[in-house]
Amino acid sequence: MKIAVLFGGTSEERDVSIASAAQIIPALRSLGHEVFSVDTATGQLSGTDEMRLLQAGVAPEPPSTSVIADVRGRAIALSAEAFNIRDVDVVFLALHGGAGEDGRIQAMLDLAGLAYTGSNHIASAVAMDKDLSKQLFRAAGVPTPDWLMAPASSDEVAQKLGWPVVVKPSKQGSTVGLSVVREASELAKAIELAMNYDDEVMIEKFIPGREFTVGILDGRALLVGEIIVPNEIFDYHAKYQVGAASEIFPANISETDAAAMQEIALRAHAALKLGVYSRIDFRVEDNGAVWCLEGNSLPGMTANSLLPQAARAAGIEFPELLERICRGAVT
Ligand code: DAL
Ligand code: MG
Repeated sequence: MKIAVLFGGTSEERDVSIASAAQIIPALRSLGHEVFSVDTATGQLSGTDEMRLLQAGVAPEPPSTSVIADVRGRAIALSAEAFNIRDVDVVFLALHGGAGEDGRIQAMLDLAGLAYTGSNHIASAVAMDKDLSKQLFRAAGVPTPDWLMAPASSDEVAQKLGWPVVVKPSKQGSTVGLSVVREASELAKAIELAMNYDDEVMIEKFIPGREFTVGILDGRALLVGEIIVPNEIFDYHAKYQVGAASEIFPANISETDAAAMQEIALRAHAALKLGVYSRIDFRVEDNGAVWCLEGNSLPGMTANSLLPQAARAAGIEFPELLERICRGAVT
């Protein structure tokens, strides 16, 4: 197939996308596909950027607020550059966050008549919006922690959620702009931080316990994975600093608990109308209570990211996973 890999972009997860693309591109080529890439921030085809990325192999740094302000102004004009793509069989979305994950690029690709990987524009938009996602989870019987949307007074938070809470931008990935807030005096600052990344901020009940994830591929749940994190949450540093967290596939839990989590993950995936693949994230309390946090329509896709690890545990190596994702885009 002739495949265009879209990567980079202008979201706060640009560096994560670069890391995904740097591994997706050679893996697709190893399968014999004709592959070229486009950085949607610059419209630049293949060339030096790609080579720089492939050689870098370093963990991405968290983006700074000033960089975000800088790139936001040019997001829309530059994303449109992607439409210089013609005559490809599939557009592989190695984008994370922002216009690449929230349905805008998907909708533009629909209008351009191009097949693309992942979920359609509606599912992408809904999955990116944690407030809408959780409303759909509730309607579908998927357990999700209680939440409020800002503005909310600390009295209301104390009464409806109790401390601690997690404050996060509602439409954001990779835990960017997220804080765990333990007491009323810390609330305003956390909301202010999250507001740098989204005009909607969620205040969610903090779930103490363990962190799990379930990948979905072609309508089936992969093995449950557990993420062992050094701190109480799986934050940006733990996600992308090599060795900062460890992942166990399959998770060390009973078959019954694993099957229950897989069933909830499939229900969450369906509730958000997600497509060929996704990754559903959970926290589980020591008493066994399972809480679904979110669905990711374009989860991290380096060979060692969570979904590829889950696929590998099921005997599906990284290139084969990509092949299945591409095939899902054209059937
Ligand atoms: N948002 C990041 C890429 C993830 O879900 O893996
Ligand atoms: Mg996410």
